[in-house]
Amino acid sequence: MNQVLILGAGGHAKVVADLVELAGYAVAGFLDDHPAGPDVFGKPVLGPIADCLRYPEHAFVIGIGSNRVRRELAARYPLRWITAVHPKAVVARDAMLGPGTVVMANAVVNPGAAVGAHAIVNTGAIVEHDNVVGDFAHLSPGCALGGTVTVGAGTHVGIGACVRNNVCIAPDCVIGAGAVVITDLKQPGTYVGCPAKRLNK
Ligand SMILES: CC(C)(COP(=O)(O)OP(=O)(O)OC[C@H]1O[C@@H](n2cnc3c(N)ncnc32)[C@H](O)[C@@H]1OP(=O)(O)O)[C@@H](O)C(=O)NCCC(=O)NCCS
Repeated sequence: MNQVLILGAGGHAKVVADLVELAGYAVAGFLDDHPAGPDVFGKPVLGPIADCLRYPEHAFVIGIGSNRVRRELAARYPLRWITAVHPKAVVARDAMLGPGTVVMANAVVNPGAAVGAHAIVNTGAIVEHDNVVGDFAHLSPGCALGGTVTVGAGTHVGIGACVRNNVCIAPDCVIGAGAVVITDLKQPGTYVGCPAKRLNK
């Protein structure tokens, strides 16, 4: 069985650990620069993240919710990244998932969809047919993308947000919790409300 180490040891890492084990891997432990305690989810925190290079035999996944941090870690460390899918997620036979991507319980990834590397398809998120979801994106719990939606790299779609079919969202956007996106969002920024508008702060 593949031994997996998880980068990060916070709340998101715990959920990732659970699904990684349910997906048939063995979690050997966590690496974190500022752990809250010596173990998480019954597994040891073995040291800081930079120690990952001391484990050439292990596979890795990043258990950190920040898109920016996942992007930095993936660029810094040339590791063997796993793709992990919860057994109660539904992923179409022809859907593509990049390395480092996690798909959580009750999420659906429908036919023709392509999700990039180190993305998070969180609990109950819906990735409809022919969606293109960029690297390091995060689709929060319960969000729903209609058919043929594009979500740019590094974009965070908030909890319970909806995106109308055929809409294209630029890279590095934040879509607020519960937002309803009905037009293309061409500029990076934070968008909230129904219909979603750019938040000027
Ligand atoms: C959109 C978001 C990023 C804004 O956070 P922020 O920059 O800290 O903004 P603030 O909380 O200071 O709010 C600024 C304004 O936007 C409004 N606002 C914030 N989030 C909103 C939302 N989701 N929908 C509607 N309005 C929202 C606030 O009411 C406030 O309005 P005001 O200036 O009229 O009082 C954040 O509220 C959000 O929704 N994040 C998504 C969280 C999420 O889904 N997490 C899941 C993790 S798994």
